[in-house]
Amino acid sequence: MKFFVDTADINEIKDLAATGLLDGVTTNPSLVAKSGAKNFISLIEDICKIVEGPVSAEVAATDYPTMLKEGQRLAKIAPHVAVKVPLTEDGLKVCKALSDNGTMVNVTLCFSSAQAILAAKAGATFISPFVGRLDDVGHDGMQLIADIVEIYSQYPKFETEVLVASIRHPGHLIDSARMGAHVATLPPNVIRQLYKHPLTDKGLAAFVDDWAKTGQSILDAA
Ligand code: G3P
Repeated sequence: MKFFVDTADINEIKDLAATGLLDGVTTNPSLVAKSGAKNFISLIEDICKIVEGPVSAEVAATDYPTMLKEGQRLAKIAPHVAVKVPLTEDGLKVCKALSDNGTMVNVTLCFSSAQAILAAKAGATFISPFVGRLDDVGHDGMQLIADIVEIYSQYPKFETEVLVASIRHPGHLIDSARMGAHVATLPPNVIRQLYKHPLTDKGLAAFVDDWAKTGQSILDAA
């Protein structure tokens, strides 16, 4: 399973890339606004220098001709840019045009299996169903992931990867892995939560104390 980080904060990306566990990055207009970055193209260029895997950069327009031009501009930044387009009729037209030319496309704002089928037919590299936002309105976000994974598995010619987005907590990630989703994009705080278990902290504290009692040093050993 691939781990992407869902942030446009360059310092967070640097920090998490250093773990060696990061396979890609997703951004969106809200995350770019939150980062305070003033030059979107430079920001994506900088992220692409840090992370070798797919870096999602979202178009800003909503009409076909402008989205296509924006997508082509973003794709020029680096071969590992995945142009992010919304799941609309025009967005999927852009998806088809860009993917036919070999550009990776991440189709975002997916909230139904029908939308996910359309995205696969349009040649999307990634489909991004938003589980947290579905949960927020009383629906079952993880059920949508299960449905899309099952549907895609019926059609081996669909090459679209299920990228679970709008993840709010480690449980979303664990369920996604159980269902065989290809990618999870995780906010930095959720990635850090994954390491944590109170028994790990307690066990480590005991080992450190007991080791001190031995009076030894591994590095000073003869
Ligand atoms: O990047 C898309 C998605 O992950 C956004 O998540 O938390 O704004 O619902 P959220």
